[in-house]
Amino acid sequence: MSLLVLLLLMVSVASAADDGAFIGVNIGTALSDMPSPTQVVALLKKQQIQHVRLYDADIAMLTAFANSGIRVTVSVPNEQLLGIGQSNATAANWVSRNVVAHVPAVNITAIAVGSEVLTALPNAAPVLVSALKFIHSALVAANLDRQVKVSTPHSSSIILDSFPPSQAFFNRSLDPVIVPMLKFLQSTGSYLMLNVYPYYDYMQSNGVIPLDYALFRPLPPNKEAVDANTLLHYTNVFDAVVDAAYFAMAYLNITNVPVTVLESGWPRKGDSNEPDATVDNANTYNSNLIRHVLNTTGTPKHPGIAVNTYIYELYDEDLRPGALSEKFWGLFDANGVPVYTLHLMGSGMVLANDTTNNTYCIAKDGVDEKMLQAALDWACGPGKVDCSELLQGQPCYDPDTVEAHATYAFNAYYHQMGMGAGTCDFNGVAAITTTDPSHGPCKFPGSGGKNGKFGNVIGMLLPSLFFL
Ligand SMILES: *[C@@H]1O[C@H](CO)[C@@H](O)[C@H](O)[C@H]1NC(C)=O
Ligand SMILES: *[C@@H]1O[C@H](CO)[C@@H](O)[C@H](O)[C@H]1NC(C)=O
Ligand SMILES: *[C@@H]1O[C@H](CO)[C@@H](O)[C@H](O)[C@H]1NC(C)=O
Ligand SMILES: *[C@@H]1O[C@H](CO)[C@@H](O)[C@H](O)[C@H]1NC(C)=O
Ligand SMILES: *[C@@H]1O[C@H](CO)[C@@H](O)[C@H](O)[C@H]1NC(C)=O
Ligand SMILES: *[C@@H]1O[C@H](CO)[C@@H](O)[C@H](O)[C@H]1NC(C)=O
Ligand SMILES: *[C@@H]1O[C@H](CO)[C@@H](O)[C@H](O)[C@H]1NC(C)=O
Repeated sequence: MSLLVLLLLMVSVASAADDGAFIGVNIGTALSDMPSPTQVVALLKKQQIQHVRLYDADIAMLTAFANSGIRVTVSVPNEQLLGIGQSNATAANWVSRNVVAHVPAVNITAIAVGSEVLTALPNAAPVLVSALKFIHSALVAANLDRQVKVSTPHSSSIILDSFPPSQAFFNRSLDPVIVPMLKFLQSTGSYLMLNVYPYYDYMQSNGVIPLDYALFRPLPPNKEAVDANTLLHYTNVFDAVVDAAYFAMAYLNITNVPVTVLESGWPRKGDSNEPDATVDNANTYNSNLIRHVLNTTGTPKHPGIAVNTYIYELYDEDLRPGALSEKFWGLFDANGVPVYTLHLMGSGMVLANDTTNNTYCIAKDGVDEKMLQAALDWACGPGKVDCSELLQGQPCYDPDTVEAHATYAFNAYYHQMGMGAGTCDFNGVAAITTTDPSHGPCKFPGSGGKNGKFGNVIGMLLPSLFFL
């Protein structure tokens, strides 16, 4: 019964997401063993990913997308931007080779012109708007301008004073580009493409931004950020950044250009100076982001308005230079094996891989022992967990530490509650993991299907329903 309800719920969210918000995925290709385009498309289909962004307009890739139904955003790489922004003919030629040649077999829905040009390639800024206009007029000439939108993705760092969002504005020295760009987006019915990385906002905040706020974890009401001008409550960094963009546009009198988040994600591994690039944080961020976007909650400023978002990114890119974390943003390895199992639908049950169909709730490392003990007592008392396995002589007595016993009890509670959202928190001393904490004779609820009432069943029924 409850299973049926859950399935119906999933189906209704899936169809709502068709009209409303969608989640897409970025496909970077700096892998030493880049899968073939056919393999990429097979993975996307298996995972029911319907929207992708390419960083170029690779002909082999586009050919593989033909008749797949997948919506594709292609990109003009920064290297080609100067040429296109300086010559209408070059732009027309680009559109003819990279777009006109592939539609309608490939459903190209947008062209991302350059990538973070204002911050990454400032010397091309003066031609950015001409590039947008030249590309657009070539689409008009091909009668494709209504189905293919033209825009250019920005780093959110072009928005200054972004908290409180109501006081945010675009870096004024960029106005000569931003103002005509926004007018272009407005007059062509396009959208603002924004890259939103709460990971970097958190890293650069020197402790001002709490990790939970970056990860969409529930905050106590007294910790929620309130915009004193609007009295809007912000429960996560992502919404605050998107609203900062809306306010910055409104400041320039542009109020009808929607925001699409072209990149967002969290790395699962990094250098020693990136301690929060962990599997659990990456999983938490991406799972919560997907749920948040698909729920079409919108943002505090624009509740109910979809913020379509492309996750960064499909594959780990082992060839990317820079900080170690650059290589570990992917959801899948080159073989298409998920690097972690997202827990979606508020219930930890939508799965990428039916052999890793469970998540577990464990005590966090290095947290205050008194808080752990209090949470353990709560779980075994009011929380109604059967803690008899923890008694002396029972399988989970050893190791006899508060941390080990709390882990057992937290996980039992989490599984007892069907791995529901917010059931692995315990005042912040618990965390979700995909690694089975069972040891020796001590088998944890959810482990190997022994006591896991839900995970395995759903895993078998919905082995490939990864994104809804
Ligand atoms: C292409 O994608 C758009 C946007 O999602 C959709 O409205 C349209 O029906 C798609 N076209 C085809 C032929 O699938
Ligand atoms: C650019 O070329 C298109 C045709 O591809 C034409 O319609 C448009 O007027 C040209 N724009 C400029 C600014 O030359
Ligand atoms: C604003 O943009 C200018 C020009 O790109 C840049 O030099 C300056 O550092 C930016 N200001 C801030 C505060 O980011
Ligand atoms: C925005 O509109 C207001 C009222 O119409 C006007 O006073 C203001 O100058 C406009 N600002 C910009 C940047 O266009
Ligand atoms: C979805 O949004 C509604 C409000 O629109 C909220 O009550 C509900 O908790 C949200 N669900 C999730 C899973 O975020
Ligand atoms: C699931 O993951 C395992 C390893 O964790 C891998 O061997 C297997 O191929 C994956 N299966 C699918 C269907 O992705
Ligand atoms: C996942 O489900 C499969 C059945 O589809 C089951 O054989 C396997 O033991 C489960 N894995 C875990 C870790 O629970």
